[in-house]
Amino acid sequence: MSSILHQPLRILVTGGAGFIGANFLHRIVPQLSDTVIVNLDKLTYAGNLQSLQAIEKAPNYRFIYGDICDLDLVQKLFAEYQFTTVVHFAAESHVDRSIQSPIDFARSNVIGTASILQAAKDSWMHASSDMQEFRFVHVSTDEVFGALGPTGRFSPDTSYAPRSPYAASKASADHFVRAYAETYGLPVVISNCSNNYGPYQFPEKLIPLAIVRAMNLDLIPVYSKGENVRDWLHVDDHCEALMRMLHNGLAGETYLVGGSGECSNLELLRLLLTIVDEELGRTPESSWKLIKFVKDRPGHDFRYAIDASKLVTELGWAPNHTLEEGLRATVRWYLSNQPWLQSVMDESYRTYLKTQYEAV
Ligand code: NAD
Ligand code: DAU
Repeated sequence: MSSILHQPLRILVTGGAGFIGANFLHRIVPQLSDTVIVNLDKLTYAGNLQSLQAIEKAPNYRFIYGDICDLDLVQKLFAEYQFTTVVHFAAESHVDRSIQSPIDFARSNVIGTASILQAAKDSWMHASSDMQEFRFVHVSTDEVFGALGPTGRFSPDTSYAPRSPYAASKASADHFVRAYAETYGLPVVISNCSNNYGPYQFPEKLIPLAIVRAMNLDLIPVYSKGENVRDWLHVDDHCEALMRMLHNGLAGETYLVGGSGECSNLELLRLLLTIVDEELGRTPESSWKLIKFVKDRPGHDFRYAIDASKLVTELGWAPNHTLEEGLRATVRWYLSNQPWLQSVMDESYRTYLKTQYEAV
């Protein structure tokens, strides 16, 4: 099977200043040194250019401050760069925020995706021969499938049943992506992935929130009784899966990505806090007392679990991190990256945005 990454490419990454996008850029910018890689990001509260300091001066990397909903801007970028690959991460991503501000999610996740698709389609349809291997990789979530009971796993055949405004917006985006594939023949690949964790994750999501709170001996809010189950995946394993989709993913296909790291939130936190205590030389299990049960999230999905066998058998992917190893590496990363963490906690990472881009 041919690999699109064997050719000189021009890649558009959307949302590359966020958690997964930044990890993805750290991987591809040094690896694909002959490839122009453009990162289009609006720098919402979740976008942090400090996460990209190690690669920001690379000659093959460009940052564009802008909104994916701005069709004029997106079309100009496609006209200028003639992208051969799009990896679309940009989205509002936090379920609790979607309950507070659903329209923001409809805008960025639905209109934004439609805008990127429209520009990609126009560019691809009028392009010269080096666009034959064009790919649009859409980074979606397992939440589009709704909630599982105690048994069963999501597969590529599972029906869509989103239950939160976030999940509904991502499901709608997925439908737009498929519609562009069916109607215009745009070569798309969709990835539906489970919960990621790892470096550079904004500390509103459960794992970084718990690490930061445990470091400071603050209480850790756990919704309801902590019985909800998630299938945790280290972000490097997700990025590796996306690379395999870029290399060998078949146009029109959907791949599910999950780490076989299923556990309840309470089990997860006990393991995580045990690691934090070990790394900080605290009395074993002493941080467990920080767990505080609080009111449940409205419409809280009970369980997610992924059957990733298609990705394993067709693209040869397998996760490299066990949950315990991945959590330990993540705890160590947060402990040893205090300047990054501090700038997020005191919001000084936003001043970088103001000085560099807001006047543009
Ligand atoms: P994130 O919230 O950390 O980052 C999102 C990035 O998108 C930010 O840099 C933000 O500034 C940018 N962005 C948001 N709206 C934008 C807009 N209108 N125009 C331009 N940029 C915009 O998100 P993440 O956790 O890195 O997730 C990335 C993608 O992966 C999302 O599409 C998300 O739905 C999906 N996903 C995330 C997970 C997870 O566990 N984090 C799991 C599966 C899928
Ligand atoms: O499944 C993939 C999805 O995983 C991604 O698409 C989303 O972008 C990502 O945010 C994540 O969604 P979740 O809602 O599962 O992640 P979160 O970290 O917010 O919550 C994980 C679990 O922990 C969930 O059952 C809710 C619970 N929780 C979360 C927070 C923030 C708590 O108990 N307390 C908390 O304070």
